[in-house]
Amino acid sequence: MNIIHISAECYPVAKVGGLADVVGALPKYQNNSNNRAQVIMPFYDNKFTQNNTFSSVFESELILGEDTYNFNILVLKDKPLDFDIFFVDVPLLLFKDYVYSFDDTSRFLAFQIAALDWLLTWHDFPDVIHCHDHHTGLIPFMLQESYKYEVFRNIPNILTIHNAQYQGWFSHNKVNLIPPFNFNNVGLLDWGGQINPLAAAIKCAWSVTTVSPSYMEELKSNANGLEHLLSAESAKCTGILNGIDWKVWNTETDTYIKKQYTEGSISAGKKANKKYLCDTFNLDIDKPLFAFIGRLVGEKGSDLFPEAFKNSLEKGNANILLLGSGNDAVEAELEKLKAPYKGIYNAFIGYDETLSHIIYAGADFLLMPSRVEPCGLNQMYSLRYGTIPIVRSIGGLKDTVTDIAEKGGFGICHKNTDVLEINEAIDRAVELYKNKTIFNKIRKQIMKIDHSWDASAQEYITLYESIN
Ligand code: ADP
Ligand code: GLC
Repeated sequence: MNIIHISAECYPVAKVGGLADVVGALPKYQNNSNNRAQVIMPFYDNKFTQNNTFSSVFESELILGEDTYNFNILVLKDKPLDFDIFFVDVPLLLFKDYVYSFDDTSRFLAFQIAALDWLLTWHDFPDVIHCHDHHTGLIPFMLQESYKYEVFRNIPNILTIHNAQYQGWFSHNKVNLIPPFNFNNVGLLDWGGQINPLAAAIKCAWSVTTVSPSYMEELKSNANGLEHLLSAESAKCTGILNGIDWKVWNTETDTYIKKQYTEGSISAGKKANKKYLCDTFNLDIDKPLFAFIGRLVGEKGSDLFPEAFKNSLEKGNANILLLGSGNDAVEAELEKLKAPYKGIYNAFIGYDETLSHIIYAGADFLLMPSRVEPCGLNQMYSLRYGTIPIVRSIGGLKDTVTDIAEKGGFGICHKNTDVLEINEAIDRAVELYKNKTIFNKIRKQIMKIDHSWDASAQEYITLYESIN
């Protein structure tokens, strides 16, 4: 089966969050003697594109409303990835030093049109087109409705919703940007009086998945306005839990971390990484280290961090280290905590892939008090690195972490995203840390939990086969 993933992000090329990790891993695990998975993504001006060379395999022009733009399809010249990846380069629109910004409507429409225009020239069409999130949400609509892409009508396509919070809304005034289609069906584009690419994809895709089963259920009652649509379309919706790339996230081979380790050498390995973090960030090696890694947005509960951190740090029995960015006010509050809690608190405001690996390896606990978490990859990386996750039981966190109070449990779970519950969860973790026998047993136990992509990659293949 020939599978095409179309996405705005893909690790290691361009990453804002977990979408990149998924699209950078899933194709690897789908590629085998029966299946070939390939990726199409935009060409951005970033570190990866500056450090690699590309050659053009196709050149043409695309029409976006009244305007015409040149575009190229580029491939990597020297250092291939583990799967074929094609870059849509629309120099005047896409080639920017950011992935998302104010001009996403025209940029991602151009991306989707160029990708389909290029696919039109293929000798053998793909067996399935797999779209990810709203940036590619107009593809299922165009495949079904645009005159230009009529030859694609029978190609099964699926949409994976990584996060329903973001839907790509734009005004009907811009409908002329979409290639001509049967205007009787313009309603398929609409949700609540606007063009809504995510809603259009939910209506038109042959199948819709979310990145965990619990998130699928939650979306039926809370999907940022799309709950009724998702309930109505539930027959074609399923939740497939993300996996993690065991080749990238492997404590035995990870070259980012300060000391590699296995379950057998977990204590020494984690201690060396923790020591590096404590030395670098001026923290106390004898106290448990709680970490947060992620986007500082409401969904992650980050607005509560300043107060919650302050309460826990006041007790003097824990270190907290944060790596993240995303909200000026929260960032400023987090910076302010540095002086009063010098020696037990620090924050790196920014994005740093290497540091994230060292933190997964060196921390004792990882905090994820998310209000919404479609899947969450951090808790799975943390498990793999022997770091005990502290999570709010929601979405993918609910599907992957069981509280230590339950039989076979290995994490700390709380029901709500509020300051009190975050502090109580940290208190429970501090107690657990004191009981070294149980603490060490759990750390070893979690390293063995199998969240590799093997099973979920196969689930997608089974789904593609069922709609083919
Ligand atoms: P989301 O996609 O909602 O941000 P996920 O848990 O699915 O959340 O994935 C987040 C990914 O981004 C993980 O690989 C995490 O390590 C990474 N990440 C998030 N923020 C940062 C940061 N500031 N520096 C480095 N990596 C980060
Ligand atoms: C989104 C979600 C996150 C999920 C990721 C990958 O960014 O917020 O929970 O893990 O996509 O599917």
